[in-house]
This record gives sequence, structure tokens and C-alpha cells, in this order.
Amino acid sequence: MARVDTSTSRPYHLVIFGATGFTGQFVVEEVARTVSEGPGGNLKWAVAGRSKQKLEKVLEKAAGVLSKPELRTEVDILVADVAEEDSLAAMCKQAVIVLNCVGPYRFYGEPVVKACVENGAHHIDISGEPQFLEGMQLNYSSQAAEKGVYIIGSCGFDSIPADMGVLFTRDQFKGTLTSVESFLTVGSGPDGGCIHDGTWQSAIYGFADSQNLRNLRRKFNHKPLLPVGPKLKPRGALFYSNEIQQYAIPFMGSDPSVVKRSQRFLVEEHKATPVQYGAYAGVGGLGNTIKLMFAGMMFLLLVKFSFGRNLLIKYPEFFSFGAFTKAGPTRKQMEGSSFQMAFHGVGYTEEQDPSQDKPTTKIRTLVQGPEAGYVATPIAMVQSALTILNEPAALPKKGGVYSPGAAFSKTTLVNRLNKHGIQFSVI
Ligand SMILES: NC(=O)c1ccc[n+]([C@@H]2O[C@H](COP(=O)([O-])OP(=O)(O)OC[C@H]3O[C@@H](n4cnc5c(N)ncnc54)[C@H](OP(=O)(O)O)[C@@H]3O)[C@@H](O)[C@H]2O)c1
Repeated sequence: MARVDTSTSRPYHLVIFGATGFTGQFVVEEVARTVSEGPGGNLKWAVAGRSKQKLEKVLEKAAGVLSKPELRTEVDILVADVAEEDSLAAMCKQAVIVLNCVGPYRFYGEPVVKACVENGAHHIDISGEPQFLEGMQLNYSSQAAEKGVYIIGSCGFDSIPADMGVLFTRDQFKGTLTSVESFLTVGSGPDGGCIHDGTWQSAIYGFADSQNLRNLRRKFNHKPLLPVGPKLKPRGALFYSNEIQQYAIPFMGSDPSVVKRSQRFLVEEHKATPVQYGAYAGVGGLGNTIKLMFAGMMFLLLVKFSFGRNLLIKYPEFFSFGAFTKAGPTRKQMEGSSFQMAFHGVGYTEEQDPSQDKPTTKIRTLVQGPEAGYVATPIAMVQSALTILNEPAALPKKGGVYSPGAAFSKTTLVNRLNKHGIQFSVI
């Protein structure tokens, strides 16, 4: 079994790399809130990034926000730069787990994963970039297994609610669950809401490079996962969803790819029945839908050319109709925001024969929580790390590169998330 070394041989249980980023600052606050949940009730942690001064400012701010003046003096600072291999090695040698918040991951992620594997640190990221996530699986799975290191990607809003939500739905279903569709809706308060430019950039480069993702997938040489029961039909590019009473589109993020990887792992390693999955996002009424279609067409056109990409990167607010901004949401906007992901599952009762009958039994579950990008994401990331530290025996037997569902299917991560405001329920 892979060994999670929570002893004192490494100075820190967690090192937050990229703590100066928009998301990183909130991960710092979330870690500071949860120190009592570490092994033996005491989490040892440090922050890391390429500027000591900026890291000091982050700790200063967190100390003020959380009324914890000790953060200014008691949290160690490590200076590390993705471009300097030795600095990454030095950081990884000191950590049981690196919480990596440095993105876009397609540009900065691989050296950190490599350094973690080579220096025996587990790695958690919040990437929503399938090409990075699947590329790491292709290139580092066997090395990570040899070293007993867990590299667990997409542990933020992308894609913990979707991936763990499908597993929760399966576990609550009385019988054999064979397909699930999820419908995401996000809410904001009177101040509105938006997403920080870091995610916008990750999306731009991801869409621009979708051909390489197709090429990468061929290299896995996977046999198709044969569905049990009828094949789940994809909905249209735009449709009215009776499930959420609004127009909806296919969800463009990493959820379908992550859920598929988890399902493949569970079928291959645990002989589970595969659950087919379709992910959709609500876009609201007709007015919003027209606005979104216009923005989407402009995005898809511009993202193909370097001139267009430069324009998109320079003016995120203009091209996304205010959905993405360079400043990111204010704390007030974040307080007023929330997400809901409704899961509609279908399957067979224990008495039915999947080779003869139609699946007639249904289940509805819900994963709901606070603002997705900078409240729910830090909670999901930190609880994933605490699960590694506190439940090593429930992780897959070997180290490797895993999706959340593959890594955490036998752990109590869902209960931990429930206690921290990301709630899973049957409705
Ligand atoms: N899964 C989700 O739902 C979710 C939610 C939020 C964010 N994210 C992802 O998280 C990533 C970060 O997003 P963000 O909005 O926080 O971006 P950001 O504010 O631009 O932060 C980027 C971070 O990377 C650091 N960095 C850049 N180059 C570096 C280098 N060479 N060496 C070391 N550190 C370096 C930056 O450090 P400096 O301060 O020194 O520049 C900063 O700390 C993105 O990929 C985004 O998509 C995912």
C-alpha cells in the first residue's frame, strides 16, 4: 500500500503553492480555519510562491480577515518558482502534500507534479483542464505508483461536486444505477457575481488546443466502457430543461472527463457497474440565452487565432459580458453566491434483469454549496487533503494519478464536505 507519511519527518503536512493567487489566498484562509482537523488535531502548514513579500501580505490579510494575528508570525514561507526546478524540489521535500494553486496548469502544472513525484510529496490541484489532468495520468501514473505518491487532480468545484455527486447518487440508489444527468445552476445576491480571470485564461488555452486533447486520448488506447442498459443520449446544444425549469447547455468544464475517468477506474479496479454521465448547466431565460449564444460564438471564433486569444485575454469582462473579470468577485459578491447541482439518475431494481428490462427506477440527489470558485473550491481542496492525511487506509492501494472519485470513493470525503457547507442529499 502507498504510504502517507504524516509523521514529523517532514516539517509540513500541507504546503500551499501559489498562495498569492486569487484562489490561493482563499485556500490559505480555509487551511487556517481547519488546523484542528489535521492529524492529531494539529495541522502543520506553510505557504509557498515566488515572492516572499507577496506571501507576507497574504498572511497579513488572512490574519486580519480571520482575526488570527498568529498567522503573521507562525506560518512559514517557502520561496519556489515553477521555472526553478531546485526550488520546487526543496519545497516538495518539506511537504506531505502540496496544494497546488498555480495555474493555468497547462503552462505551470507539470513541473510541480514531476517535483512531487520525484520528492515523495502527494499533490492536489484544482485544475479544470482535461488536457493537463489526463496528460499527467498518461505520463506520471507508473512513476507515482512506484513512489507511493498520490497525484489527485480537479479537487475544486471542478470536479468534486460532479464526481463525488455521481458516487453519492450511486451509493444512495437501491439497485443498480446505470446513468445520471446533472444540472448546474448558480445563484448570486443583489451584488451579482463573477469569476476571476485565472479561470478565463485556463479556458481560452484549453479550447484553443482541443485537437491535442483528442490526440492525447488516443494514446491511452482505452477500450470503450460498455454501458449497462440503454445508452444515455446526449441532449442538444441548447434545450429547455424541465428538470431545472430553464434553458440549459452542455457543461463545458472538466466534469464529464473527470467522471468518466473515475468510472473507468471503478469498473476496472472494483468491478463496479459503469454509470453513464451527462453534465448540463442552466443558462436562465430567453434573454440570457441569446446573450450567452452571442458571447459563445464570439469566443469560439476568436479562440482559434492568436490575435483573437490576445483580445480575449486583454478584455475578459467585455467578451464574457461581465462573467469573468481581472479583479475577481468581491467578498460581498461571494457571500451572496451559491451553486446547486441536481442529479437525475436511472437504473434497475435488484429484481430486474438489465439484459431484458428497461431501467425504470429513478433517483434525484442534490449537491449544493456556497460560491463555487473561491468558497466551495478551497473547502473541497482542503477537505481532500485532510482526507489523505486522516484516512490513508481508505485510499487506493497504490500511489498513482487519480481523479477524486477514484481516490476518494472509499473515504468519508462526502461526510467531511457535508460538515463544511457542501451538502449532498437525496431529494
Ligand atoms: N476548480 C475550480 O473550480 C477552480 C476555481 C478557482 C480557480 N481554479 C484554477 O486555479 C488556477 C489559479 O486561478 P487564479 O484565478 O487563482 O489565478 P491567479 O490569480 O492568476 O494565480 C496564479 C498563481 O500562480 C502563481 N504563479 C504564476 N507563475 C508562477 C511561477 N512561475 N512560479 C510560481 N508561481 C507562479 C502566481 O504567483 P504570483 O502572485 O507571484 O504571480 C499566483 O499565485 C487556474 O488554473 C484556475 O482555473 C479552479
